[in-house]
Amino acid sequence: MNIKYTKLTKRWHFAYTFKKIYCRIFQSCFKLVIPILPYRTPEILKSTSLISYICMDNHISKVMVITDFTVHQLGILNRMCEHLDHHSISYVIYDKTVANPTSDNVEETKNLYLSSNCQALIGFGGGSSMDCAKAVGARLARPKKPLSKMEGILKIWKKLPLLICVLAIARTGSETTLAAVIVDPKPTLSLPPFITACTGMDALTHAVEAYIGNSTTKKTRAYALKATKLIFENI
Ligand SMILES: NC(=O)c1ccc[n+]([C@@H]2O[C@H](COP(=O)([O-])OP(=O)(O)OC[C@H]3O[C@@H](n4cnc5c(N)ncnc54)[C@H](O)[C@@H]3O)[C@@H](O)[C@H]2O)c1
Repeated sequence: MNIKYTKLTKRWHFAYTFKKIYCRIFQSCFKLVIPILPYRTPEILKSTSLISYICMDNHISKVMVITDFTVHQLGILNRMCEHLDHHSISYVIYDKTVANPTSDNVEETKNLYLSSNCQALIGFGGGSSMDCAKAVGARLARPKKPLSKMEGILKIWKKLPLLICVLAIARTGSETTLAAVIVDPKPTLSLPPFITACTGMDALTHAVEAYIGNSTTKKTRAYALKATKLIFENI
């Protein structure tokens, strides 16, 4: 019994050490490659009222808004929708996104996007709505590749439809990577103090992680320091 246990422990240690070495080598190589990857810096908009102009510039007349039931019911989308109406841009709202969105959420939204002939995606709310919107974008770009095959990085290699993310809670915006970002504080005003505090602490954790992470860039670390300062002074 003891001999078997020792053998298993040894095997586990070997697998663990091998995985650790593999991860460190991968991280170091990735750090070297990052500067030459075609990453796009997200465009930052100051208000949701500007979304209509982005759509018009891109000849988009119908968008899909991905959110959750609470955000929809609280009327937080209203201001953006009024601007879209004003500029004759139609929209379809999907408000069934659940916390940590499921692949069913993604497939349902993708099908609705296609059947409604939408041309762009707007993720509105918290990280779950952003993630759902990003995953829908990935599925639209690679319709033959299931989500399960997209785990990891550098799996899409195709242009996604225009993706706009509007954060309605206190966050660092890490959920909005590789997308147009709206930094409009107004939607966050309805957030209860407790959730503001919790999501603010989560944002602080993201900032610290970004600073100490092994594969981050000089720019990321500068943003991380700025985020930490802002969160410390404002939450
Ligand atoms: N892809 C990434 O880089 C990345 C980064 C961070 C988090 N995430 C993902 O994001 C998800 C978690 O996101 P989250 O923590 O933002 O929460 P969430 O999106 O799951 O939930 C946010 C909650 O806040 C409510 N809410 C949002 N705005 C509001 C407002 N203005 N007033 C009142 N209520 C409001 C929503 O209805 C919802 O209940 C996880 O799935 C996580 O994996 C992804």
